[in-house]
Amino acid sequence: MLKTLELTAGSHMLVKGLARIRPLRGVVEVFGAPVKAGANVVVPRGRQVPLTAAEDSQIEVYGGEGADVREIDYDPIPEDWRRAAEEASGSKVVMVLGDVDVGKSGFTLYLANMLIRKGLRAAIVDPDIGQSDVGPPCTIGMALLDEPRPTYWDLPLTDAYFVGDKTPTGHLLPMVVGTKRLVDKAVSMGAAAVIINTTGMVYGGVAYALKRYKVEAIRPDVIVAIQRVQDNQGRSP
Ligand SMILES: Nc1ncnc2c1ncn2[C@@H]1O[C@H](COP(=O)(O)OP(=O)(O)O)[C@@H](O)[C@H]1O
Ligand SMILES: [Mg+2]
Repeated sequence: MLKTLELTAGSHMLVKGLARIRPLRGVVEVFGAPVKAGANVVVPRGRQVPLTAAEDSQIEVYGGEGADVREIDYDPIPEDWRRAAEEASGSKVVMVLGDVDVGKSGFTLYLANMLIRKGLRAAIVDPDIGQSDVGPPCTIGMALLDEPRPTYWDLPLTDAYFVGDKTPTGHLLPMVVGTKRLVDKAVSMGAAAVIINTTGMVYGGVAYALKRYKVEAIRPDVIVAIQRVQDNQGRSP
């Protein structure tokens, strides 16, 4: 399906992949990154991106298998994200914690983009070895960024640390050492801010040990914890 849509400034959409979005006129924002006419945003199958028209725009959307494109009447960037991004700005190292699928990767990218838009060089360190956003699975990836990016699709892999498994269990030392080394590397390469995304492993003793010693080793300036509003199943991290 190929559609051309007219968007008025300030309107919002959710685009589920597989899809390709291409502004023909105007500027849209995806996770805080401006996307101008002629640029492409690829949304992988099963993933979704929020889109806001920064000005009156015309976009072309190509939808493949599983695609869903719909206009919404609320801002898909939660107010809490905006506040957390404001509060975290000026911090050198930010760690993002939370369960699977709560928006850790989305917030990490949004925060990096907001800092880059303030003129900072930002780095994303991605120790989520099972659902890697930066680099291949089984490795911790690091991307140093000077330009805002709408998706993880084509992020550079500036450096990586090999862990060798898709779960941190049994590999806590390489997880902590690798994350610390990549944070230090990003800082030595001139990153003014380093944002560490983490695995969604937050329940139980192993998860507790991993997070605790990661925090001890890295000493982030800010920890952003994301929780689903309806997450009331009595479980506690
Ligand atoms: N603000 C948002 N608006 C719409 N979709 C979002 C938003 N944040 C994340 N998503 C989408 O929801 C899904 C889960 O979010 P993700 O950031 O990958 O979670 P996590 O990293 O915690 O597992 C992904 O498809 C992602 O693109
Ligand atoms: Mg993630």
